[in-house]
Amino acid sequence: MSACGSACGKAILLGEHAVVYGRPAIAVPVPARRAVAEVRAAPAGSGIVVVASELQARYLLGASDVDEHGRFLLAAVEGALAATGAGSAGTDLEVHVRSSIPMARGMGSGAAVSAAIARAIAAHRGITLSRERLSELVFATERLLHGTPSGIDNTVVAYEAPVWFRRGQEAEVLAVAKPLTLVIGDTGIPSRTHESVAWVRRRWEADPASLEAVFDAIGEAVERGREALLRGDVGELGALMDRNQALLEQLGVSDPALENLILAARRAGALGAKLSGGGMGGCMLALATPDEAQRVQAALCAAGAVEVIVATVTGPAAV
Ligand code: PMV
Repeated sequence: MSACGSACGKAILLGEHAVVYGRPAIAVPVPARRAVAEVRAAPAGSGIVVVASELQARYLLGASDVDEHGRFLLAAVEGALAATGAGSAGTDLEVHVRSSIPMARGMGSGAAVSAAIARAIAAHRGITLSRERLSELVFATERLLHGTPSGIDNTVVAYEAPVWFRRGQEAEVLAVAKPLTLVIGDTGIPSRTHESVAWVRRRWEADPASLEAVFDAIGEAVERGREALLRGDVGELGALMDRNQALLEQLGVSDPALENLILAARRAGALGAKLSGGGMGGCMLALATPDEAQRVQAALCAAGAVEVIVATVTGPAAV
């Protein structure tokens, strides 16, 4: 008997980094890119094994040679088993994981893999996890990857809907008034979120007043972005993305590869463009009208993006 679960990728429309310091942020799902997990019963005594196709790896719980990826995947399995009332001792399972979300690019691949595993294990045990419980479970594994995550990635992946997120508060699903066409360009450079978050932390410790002012300005852009989303004002939203990018540049988390793609998107007619996620590599995100999206996509490819994903964001989707 086997059971499957899947979860989407994500992009941060506005507010990354400042969200770690209590300001709001808006994240959206990218359902075209997914992580999928399949749980299969395994022969008695074989233990818990995770097979990760992209990593070409097979991890056995309790083995001594498990690397960082394996520890993350096995922790997701153990967390999901515990949440569904089962222990890992004496359990025999094979969990197969695959994902079309680029890894370490700020697209939430870790959160999606963890959510897919939790959904598959819950389905295998005949249990439905609420989105809040799922989000909590994914948050626990995110901590292994990022140290001090704000909680935005696990939230948007578990809700699979545009979310308004503020640390310590219940997330709110946003009813997007007009579908958004996003064009996501991958620099091909790994974005190490824990490093960019640590960099901002060091700058904040050295000069809290200046950094707090930048976070406030980002928070204001996010508040205005929320209103623009709810009214369907994509022109204003694009301008706010540009403003957010300028503030992220002030924080020092942008880089030339991201800025090259951001400029190419703007020149090709994007309404706005910014980095998405931790930055210092990873992906950028452009907002386009449906008519201009293809032109922006072509411009990003010509400017050297290793991959371009076009995503449409609508209201909340059923999972
Ligand atoms: O995981 P990433 O790279 O999408 O970054 C998440 C956004 C940050 O604000 C940089 C970190 C966080 O935990 O919110």
